[in-house]
Amino acid sequence: MLFGTFEIEKPLCLAPMEDVSDRPFRLLCKSLGADVLYTEFANCEAVIRNVTREIEKMSVTDAERPIGVQIYGSRPESLERAAAMAETTGADVVDFNAGCWVKKIANRGDGAGLLRDLPRFRDAVAAVQRGTRLPVTVKTRLGWDDDSIVALDVARMLEDMGVQSLTMHCRTRVQGYSGRADWSWLARIREVSAIPLIANGDIATAQDAQACFDLGADGVMIGRAAIQYPWVFREMKHFFATGEALPERTLRERVDLCIEHLRAHVAFRGALRGVYSFRRFYGGYLKGARNIAHLRRDLMICMEVEQIVDRLHAFVESYEAESDEP
Ligand SMILES: Cc1cc2nc3c(=O)[nH]c(=O)nc-3n(C[C@H](O)[C@H](O)[C@H](O)COP(=O)(O)O)c2cc1C
Repeated sequence: MLFGTFEIEKPLCLAPMEDVSDRPFRLLCKSLGADVLYTEFANCEAVIRNVTREIEKMSVTDAERPIGVQIYGSRPESLERAAAMAETTGADVVDFNAGCWVKKIANRGDGAGLLRDLPRFRDAVAAVQRGTRLPVTVKTRLGWDDDSIVALDVARMLEDMGVQSLTMHCRTRVQGYSGRADWSWLARIREVSAIPLIANGDIATAQDAQACFDLGADGVMIGRAAIQYPWVFREMKHFFATGEALPERTLRERVDLCIEHLRAHVAFRGALRGVYSFRRFYGGYLKGARNIAHLRRDLMICMEVEQIVDRLHAFVESYEAESDEP
């Protein structure tokens, strides 16, 4: 499928995730096999007011390409201007978020709120398209709730508008993250529309990705599973190439990558903010390790990078000494 001007077969995409998919995490996932990256969403109203944090979110580097810059909002004038600003970042596509379920966003009619009013949804996408010459892609959900699923209408509408691809998180807004993503909608969308389709929601293994491809998806997007295990991209690719699973990463490999990520994260965000915001990643890197209560507590209070690194190294060493596992 096409992403910007890149032709990519069955791309594995890293999901846009606020406070997670920043440049260090994007580059890390790319080094581990992610084919396509997206920035965290930026609010178009804040973008056009030049709010530093939102402008920073849109910043991308050549090394990250192919990459989409994601914006959200619903006022056409603001979306048009924000899309024009997104284009200047060097991104390959402008991705429009019509799927955010968070109350304060969806209830004011932005994000998934647009699923309740398709003419407004259409106007918003048209405004993004007017603002940029880059291809526009859209990420959304199935509908507001089970009684108002509009995925098929949305797919047809966006295909008619010339949207380059549609990412479908196969849940409704009301579901949030509850229940399971219902991938069967991928096949139903495929029946009514030829729009390039990226499957999203609960994809964590090569088998999950394959199930989505079998249902008609052209690509898959992975969010939380990448936070838990950034090697997920490489493992999927290995499985598709060989039919075999790679062995699980050892604790030492996990901790080494954790430290590399921590250093990059802190260099990007600054010492104080970075040490604090990195806390969300420890759970993934240390998943499955035994007796981590003390370590976890230390990681939540320690504010010095080198102390954290020492603590992690000490933990691996005592873990390996006590364990038969390598
Ligand atoms: C911490 C976090 C932040 C997110 N931020 C965004 C965002 O900025 N833009 C967006 O389109 N989706 C966002 N999402 C939703 C994900 O992109 C994705 O649609 C969702 O997590 C389902 O995929 P998964 O099951 O692979 O995690 C976020 C999800 C998480 C967990």
